[in-house]
Amino acid sequence: MSRFTTGRLGLLVASLAVIPLAASPATAQLAEPSAETIVDALNTIFGKQKARASHAKGQCVTGTFTPAADAAGLSKSPNFAKAVPVLARFSMGGGNPKISDATKAAVRAIAFKLDPDGKSSEFAFVSAPVQFAKNPAQMLGFLQARFPGADGKPDPAKIKAFSDANPETTNQGKWLAGKPVPASYAGVNYWGIHAYTLTNAKGDKAVVKFKLIPTAGEAGLTDDEAKAKPADFLVDELKGRLAKGPASFDLVAIMGEAGDQTNDPSAMWPEDKRKSVKLGTMSIAAIADNATCDAGIFDPTNLADGISGPKEDPLFEIRAPAYAVSLTRRAQ
Ligand code: HEM
Repeated sequence: MSRFTTGRLGLLVASLAVIPLAASPATAQLAEPSAETIVDALNTIFGKQKARASHAKGQCVTGTFTPAADAAGLSKSPNFAKAVPVLARFSMGGGNPKISDATKAAVRAIAFKLDPDGKSSEFAFVSAPVQFAKNPAQMLGFLQARFPGADGKPDPAKIKAFSDANPETTNQGKWLAGKPVPASYAGVNYWGIHAYTLTNAKGDKAVVKFKLIPTAGEAGLTDDEAKAKPADFLVDELKGRLAKGPASFDLVAIMGEAGDQTNDPSAMWPEDKRKSVKLGTMSIAAIADNATCDAGIFDPTNLADGISGPKEDPLFEIRAPAYAVSLTRRAQ
């Protein structure tokens, strides 16, 4: 399933230095639920519909990725050797295809394929540096605490009890609560969350986290401005913006250092204290037919040579199977 080509996770090899990063063995040893069980849980919360079990509302787009001069020094990926086409989909978090774009408590997201018809790499980033669970078992608990009761609504007491017992599951919500509602899909930062390993042509490895930064800067709305917006304003704004010119983002690698977690997506790296290297610029140029993105999945384990995913991160491992289950159900 995974296409790991390298694999010394837990090690950052920069020049001659070998710096151990932190992988918590306890995380990988937990009995994990199946991908079906988690998609069932998403379907219980959001209802079964002919849409993605998560990130149900979105817009397919196309563009180009142009690598920066420093990219090849970090990774021998063919995606970083020359400009490549991009297929991408912006989305709202959650499985409600009618969610309002003004919802503060949901992540915005971008899933993208670099060179979709070639030696592609696929990613799905969200507008927070952390996930709301550190592993699939905790994700299932997070979802189960939100199951609708007899009145069709989740029980706030259950959510509170789960949050109190699993404080790291509140990190993403706290992050979103502290940020304005994005005014544009092209006006917010997106993170790849997991720790990836880049390998260059000499075999040097670096453990990094990916981030997409809008080149036009972040743009947020006040709560009052957000309340006044129509439910689909993000897609309307995107269409208006792309009619005038591309929306671009810098893809950067945040360089891991000793002690940075490599297998806990709920743990944040102290990003402002880390070096970051620009890998290139992604320029989103046109709206695409949603059927193009809906025909398949963005498989985070499909990575070209020179980029590999974390080896001991069960949340990373379960994503591709879960996306496949969701695809099968929405295609039926
Ligand atoms: C760091 C962790 C994660 C991030 C950043 C993330 C992000 C995303 C994004 C951006 C999409 C939309 C893809 C698209 O536009 O087609 C997506 C879809 C989805 N996600 Fe995740 N996700 C994460 C973890 C998980 C996990 C652990 C599960 C379940 C075990 C999951 C379940 C799903 C499902 C079922 C879909 C719909 C797939 C489809 O039908 O194509 N996600 N995710």
